Amino acid sequence: MGKRPATLLLIPLLVCFALQGFTAGKYRIGFSQCTTADHWRQTQLRLMEIELSFYPDMELRVKDASDNNKLQIKQIEEFLKEGIDLLIVSPNESEPITPVVEKVFNRGIPVIVIDRTINTDRYTAYIGGNNYEIGMEAGRYAAALLKGKGEILEIKGLSGSSPAIARHAGFLKILEGYPGIRIVRSVAGDWNWNIARQVMTNLINTPLTYDLIFAHNDVMALEAYKVLRESVSPLDPFILGVDGLPGDEGGIQFVLDGRLDATFLYPTGGEKAIQTAHKILTGLPYAKQNLLSTMVIDSTNARVLKMQTNETELLQEKIEKQRSILATQLLKNRTQRLALISLIALLAVTAAFILVIFQALKTRKRANRALELKNREIEEQKEAIIRQRDQLVEVSRQLEEATQAKLRFYTNISHEFRTPLTLIKGPLENLMEAEEFSTTHRTQFKLMHRNTVRLLRLVNQLMDFRKLENQKMELAASENDLLAFLGEIRESFSSLAEKRNIDLRVISGEKEIKIWFDRDKIDKVFFNILSNAFKFTSDGGIITILVTFVKDSGGEGPAEEVVIEIRDTGTGIQARHLDKIFDRFYQAEKSQAFRGTGLGLNLSREFVEMHHGQLTVTSQEGEGTSFFIRLPLGTRHLTSDEMVGKIADSMDYKDNQILTEDLAADIPLPSEEFPGDKKPVILIVEDEPDIREFIRQSLRDPYQILEARDGREGLHLALEEEPDLIISDVMMPEMNGLELTRAIKTDQRTCHLPVILLTARAALEHKLEGLEEGADSYIPKPFNGRHLQIRVRKLLENRAKIREHYKLSTDLKEEISGISRLDKKFLSSIIQIVENNMGDENLSVDEMGVKLGISRVHLYRKIKKLTGLSVSDFVTSVKLKKSTELLLNSGKTISEIAYEVGFTSPSYFSRCFKDYFKMSPTEYLLRIKNRESQ
Ligand code: FRU
Repeated sequence: MGKRPATLLLIPLLVCFALQGFTAGKYRIGFSQCTTADHWRQTQLRLMEIELSFYPDMELRVKDASDNNKLQIKQIEEFLKEGIDLLIVSPNESEPITPVVEKVFNRGIPVIVIDRTINTDRYTAYIGGNNYEIGMEAGRYAAALLKGKGEILEIKGLSGSSPAIARHAGFLKILEGYPGIRIVRSVAGDWNWNIARQVMTNLINTPLTYDLIFAHNDVMALEAYKVLRESVSPLDPFILGVDGLPGDEGGIQFVLDGRLDATFLYPTGGEKAIQTAHKILTGLPYAKQNLLSTMVIDSTNARVLKMQTNETELLQEKIEKQRSILATQLLKNRTQRLALISLIALLAVTAAFILVIFQALKTRKRANRALELKNREIEEQKEAIIRQRDQLVEVSRQLEEATQAKLRFYTNISHEFRTPLTLIKGPLENLMEAEEFSTTHRTQFKLMHRNTVRLLRLVNQLMDFRKLENQKMELAASENDLLAFLGEIRESFSSLAEKRNIDLRVISGEKEIKIWFDRDKIDKVFFNILSNAFKFTSDGGIITILVTFVKDSGGEGPAEEVVIEIRDTGTGIQARHLDKIFDRFYQAEKSQAFRGTGLGLNLSREFVEMHHGQLTVTSQEGEGTSFFIRLPLGTRHLTSDEMVGKIADSMDYKDNQILTEDLAADIPLPSEEFPGDKKPVILIVEDEPDIREFIRQSLRDPYQILEARDGREGLHLALEEEPDLIISDVMMPEMNGLELTRAIKTDQRTCHLPVILLTARAALEHKLEGLEEGADSYIPKPFNGRHLQIRVRKLLENRAKIREHYKLSTDLKEEISGISRLDKKFLSSIIQIVENNMGDENLSVDEMGVKLGISRVHLYRKIKKLTGLSVSDFVTSVKLKKSTELLLNSGKTISEIAYEVGFTSPSYFSRCFKDYFKMSPTEYLLRIKNRESQ
């Protein structure tokens, strides 16, 4: 049996669908087909497929039961498991299939029974040809052909299938009305051409005759025709079939060929089944029973039908083609759509991406711009700050400059104050000493003096302050006995203490406390604190200076520091002022009348701290105040620059004594008598005529005064006039005091001259500079006339002592204090020259001058000033001193020694020896020997 190519293609496609499973989102329709092995079934399926193409929301899967009931049941069960929305079933046989169909229906799955029926009404819809009517139509047609008389062979379908039963029943029903017609045999062909052939072949060989064959379908009818043709049977019955399918293998063609006499249309209902299924699934109204009508096809209409069916087929094919094209197109469209969608999606993504990038760029640009703005702002701020800073720096520089200028100005002014103050104070002191004034005058002089001193102290403090500010204040510590120092300080206040009946004591368990400190600064500290103590202690009070050691953590170890407590029984300081009294410029309210400008205590603390010490205070209002000065022992805290060693007992600190305005200690006036008839010559080098005058006044009569206006003039006079002492200012035009001192002290002709430096700059470093240059003393302005007198006197006396010492000394190498190095060198040189020329009686002063590099006159003066002897007496004294050495050590006779040291005769030697040593050489020897033997 041939099949149409389109159909052949269709089946595997459907099976393929069946195997693959349903597509999600579509109505799943399971089609349980009893068989697909014949043309009718294939046509049915094809029509369903065509119809399905109009319902894209439905999907059909087919299972082929191959005419087997069991298989069909199994396949329906499978559909249930797989999950379907609707079942179309064409049952192989009614009875066996009924239960499984009911099962499906009972599960709520709609069931469409198609073509063959089942033995229940538990299905949703039935679609199929009216088989009973077909049977009747066939009966009527047969009766007509047989004209009411004849015999019929019936070839039936499968006996359990409903169409076979219904067709047979309808056929019988009609033939009942024709008694002349009889069904001679009714055999089962089971719808199958093969079985039909067997049945026919068997019958051929029987004597059975018949005038008409009614086969239940066209394929069985055709086989009956063929068997008869193939046989030698004389029978030529009318042959009727059922189905009336189009196409070459269909009943219409069999009729046209004359192989069948007629066939009855049995529609497959394929399209209807799909339409109904869709209605059920989509909830549209539908009919439960859909009986499809039939018609007879015989020679009268076969041609027309053929043409129509051909036409339909063509149309069908076209439709299919169209559909295929459409499907392809759709696929293409879908692909294109997909591509388009993808493209659009891609475009959208790209656009979104671009948008995002654009946004990001925009944001970044904005951020950049903001950043740029911020940067610019920062930059501008920075520049502004730099400008401000520069301005500030400039302003502070200007301020600093202005401050410095002011300070310089103040310092200079302070400086300037000192000279007039000195000139007020000095003459005032002279007036105070004069006898011709009344007590009233003296009281007024005292008042003036006290205030002058007060002003001077302030000026001094201002200058110290300035020095501290400029960090030019340096420590010049020397090792001193603190107790002795405190004793001196106590001494300077003793007069005041006595006057006010204040008990001023220094208490310490030690006899001596050696400690390194700057006398000048510590003196100022004590002076300041004690002045205050006196100021605030009422008459009859007690001021105690208590000195104790503090040991390492209070243990047995060596003392680490010394603590000096200055305790008074004064008014005390209010607690709120206590921590401020050391502040610079701090001043309590007037009522408190606290300690001055605040400079004094601030300076004191600075001075103590320069010593790495501490200055603290405790006070109880109404009971008194204690100041504590703690000073470290040893030298570990001092740098080598700060340790100036033992300074010659400069009188500086004593100068402070004069600042104690009530200090009334009488400094003993020097005796105005000088040995010898000649008044000592004093050279005053000072640019200020007033001060020169004041110095002259202060020194008074016992001296002969020379005056010079500057260093240069002073040096000239020193060389020309042979003064005994020089008093020089430091700050002078042309040649200052330091330069003058250096010139004097480095010149052999003048180096023996004592020099006193006076200056308004009471600075220690200048003092040191002066001392380094060889100054013998240093007196800061303002100076006290009596103080100057004492100093002058002492230096002159010292000089006299040196001379005396030299004269009496037998050892020339012996240390002579108060004589400059240059002078010592000078004397050694002369002694050397004399010793080297002992035997030369004619060694002249000129020759010696040449050898020493100075003139005869200067040599003469120099030796006279240093030794008080003439050159020849000095040479003799050297010879005599040498002779004592020889007397003691050489074992030579006196005569031998006399000649050896250059005397012309032993008798002259003995006379000179006796003049000089006040004893003869023999006596001298005896005395030495006696001393040794003792
Ligand atoms: C096809 C077929 C038809 C017949 C029908 C009855 O399988 O045999 O020829 O008309 O089934 O169910």
